[in-house]
Amino acid sequence: MHDFLTRLPKIELHLHIEGSLQPEMMFALAERNGIELPYSDVDEVRRAYDFQDLQSFLNLYYQGMNVLRTADDFFDLAWAYFQRSHADNVRHSEFFFDPQAHLARGVSLDVQFEGLNRARQRAETELGITSAIILSFLRDQSEESAIETLEAALPFREHFIGVGLDSAERGNPPSKFERVFARAGELGLHRVAHAGEEGPAAYIKEALDLLHAERIDHGVRCLEDESVVAELAKKRIPLTVCPLSNVYLKVVERMEDHPLPKLIEAGLCVTLHSDDPAYFGGYMGANFTAVQNAFNWPNETWIQLTRNAIEASFISDERRKALLAELDEVAQDAV
Ligand code: ADE
Ligand code: ZN
Repeated sequence: MHDFLTRLPKIELHLHIEGSLQPEMMFALAERNGIELPYSDVDEVRRAYDFQDLQSFLNLYYQGMNVLRTADDFFDLAWAYFQRSHADNVRHSEFFFDPQAHLARGVSLDVQFEGLNRARQRAETELGITSAIILSFLRDQSEESAIETLEAALPFREHFIGVGLDSAERGNPPSKFERVFARAGELGLHRVAHAGEEGPAAYIKEALDLLHAERIDHGVRCLEDESVVAELAKKRIPLTVCPLSNVYLKVVERMEDHPLPKLIEAGLCVTLHSDDPAYFGGYMGANFTAVQNAFNWPNETWIQLTRNAIEASFISDERRKALLAELDEVAQDAV
């Protein structure tokens, strides 16, 4: 990676922790838990990562996370993610997890939170990476299931800062989840939602108006409706864009075709993230490099995108100040 990009403090705001499961760990956990995988080796898993669209990825993603059974499994997963992210100078991470997918396998919320929290504590102490958890609802399941999950998670309220909405977007509009997001609002939780990845700009509008989303995850299809772009810009709603994910899931054909420059020119609060790094060719650093290879931006653009991510994060004023100071230090040397 370009030295300047390496040094930039990075803020991860769109990461599915289950999407950081590398094939090597998939095999190790399968063996530890006595689970048979439908692949003979790691290379065969990697060869299967040839996605046509979001659903073809989700099929493998849910199959892969099937190996996660114990608190140690969740710890190993998240700790590996933090160590890898440390190498890219990630300084803060607000990551999603999909509790419904694990509950369906009989893995309790207690087990999920215990493992994730142990890794978070170690990451903060040993790597200086702060983090927070966003509980994400699966939009291809019912709203009743989402409500049940939120209520079941209340004993763990102190361990997550917000709710999100992920999984198969087409045919599962935000409007389906209006009540559960209202309940999350009453509980004082932050609210974010995937919208406008494969779904239309109208889903972004719904996520804003009906779910009161504070950030839109992806959101790249907002450009199909000028009024949605105008609203996002006026309210300064961050779009957590995942460039390599968009290429791997064929939202765009090549990185050079990515609408990032248009989103930035439209005055939107764009931030860059890795989504499912084990499946989409890399972590934050790989995303930054791929974007820079395609667009060759000046340092100022990268500084602005980092400033956007610090602004968009759900952190304390004190932590925000510290991250801005880290950014200023790198910026002073570079411009
Ligand atoms: N779950 C994991 N990654 C996702 C993505 N890119 N879109 C929707 N749901 C997801
Ligand atoms: Zn995502």
